[in-house]
Amino acid sequence: MNKIVVKASSGTSQVLLGGSIDDLAELCGSRKTLVITDTNVHRFHGSRFPEAPLVVIEPGEDSKDLHTVRTIYERCVELELDRGALVVGIGGGVVCDIAGFVGATYLRGVDFGFVATSLLAQVDASVGGKNGVNLNSYKNLVGTFAQPEFVVLDHELLKTLPDIELRSGLAEVVKAAAIADATLFEFLERHQADLLAADQTAIAAATKGAVEVKADIVMKDERESNLRRLLNFGHTFGHAVERTSGLTHGEAVSVGMVVAARLSQTRGLITANDVDRIEAILDGLGLPIRIAAEGDAAFDAMRKDKKREGDSIYFVLLEKIGGATITPIGLDELKGVINDLCGDH
Ligand SMILES: NC(=O)c1ccc[n+]([C@@H]2O[C@H](COP(=O)([O-])OP(=O)(O)OC[C@H]3O[C@@H](n4cnc5c(N)ncnc54)[C@H](O)[C@@H]3O)[C@@H](O)[C@H]2O)c1
Repeated sequence: MNKIVVKASSGTSQVLLGGSIDDLAELCGSRKTLVITDTNVHRFHGSRFPEAPLVVIEPGEDSKDLHTVRTIYERCVELELDRGALVVGIGGGVVCDIAGFVGATYLRGVDFGFVATSLLAQVDASVGGKNGVNLNSYKNLVGTFAQPEFVVLDHELLKTLPDIELRSGLAEVVKAAAIADATLFEFLERHQADLLAADQTAIAAATKGAVEVKADIVMKDERESNLRRLLNFGHTFGHAVERTSGLTHGEAVSVGMVVAARLSQTRGLITANDVDRIEAILDGLGLPIRIAAEGDAAFDAMRKDKKREGDSIYFVLLEKIGGATITPIGLDELKGVINDLCGDH
């Protein structure tokens, strides 16, 4: 097992790569513990959960709201959880965000930890101590900065993960590689088939690379005042695509990364060959690199994006494969690139 320690102003977190869900009982110790999970994860892995009171939510983004949070607070009160309690999320990004938010706010903050069960949660959502829930149609509008005490990354749990969710997680690995780690990018290029087959060795290496990128950035800028915004590569247009299409988070981010890569090329930052490499790796990992017809709706959704300033939107662009920067992009320039990628091809 590898351990990565994330030290930030809101706390210190240990990320246990290649850890096991069976270690959870020991990590909880004698603390009063509340476990939060969703019905899918509970169905597949509930028999290995530690003995503790349990809240099981419906899977999916619709559960990630203040209504669910309130239900869980009420359960905490019922169980008389005090400041010495522990909240544990066992699940994907939705469960981790909810458990982190509850942990960081109940009684102004109790200890919390995660067992990340989706690839997306293992490579991204469970690490970094930023947890949010949605408010109406606004994604992650209400949230907290607080580090989980521990994050268990048990790659064996991914065996029950649907393929589409595996690919969604791989998109976030490509993101990490593209913005900060050219060696990881080359690894992904060489191991596409292994990753798609959920080969444990390839998944462990890809996860380690992505977590190292995120941990390094979070330790330099926990509160997203500058550097951490680089992790939004592909997300500015990606979030808009996610809202206006039926694509998963990772699939939408994939399209968003292609838009950002092409903008980087039109700005003369990267070459056509770099863009080809990005499109090839995403395509090779079974991720979309074009979307049919929803371009206008996604463009309008993005115009309302909170990063908009006047007639431009702040975008994370690539300076090279393995390096990124943040630049304001004019709406007209953006529209041109999006029109090129959307519609029936
Ligand atoms: N806080 C952060 O830093 C951060 C970063 C990235 C994404 N996120 C959030 O993460 C969420 C997306 O995460 P996600 O893709 O994991 O979504 P998710 O939690 O909805 O999980 C995806 C699906 O996989 C199922 N699942 C999870 N683990 C499984 C397993 N081992 N076996 C079988 N099924 C399993 C879930 O039940 C769900 O149906 C979004 O809400 C996004 O905003 C947060």
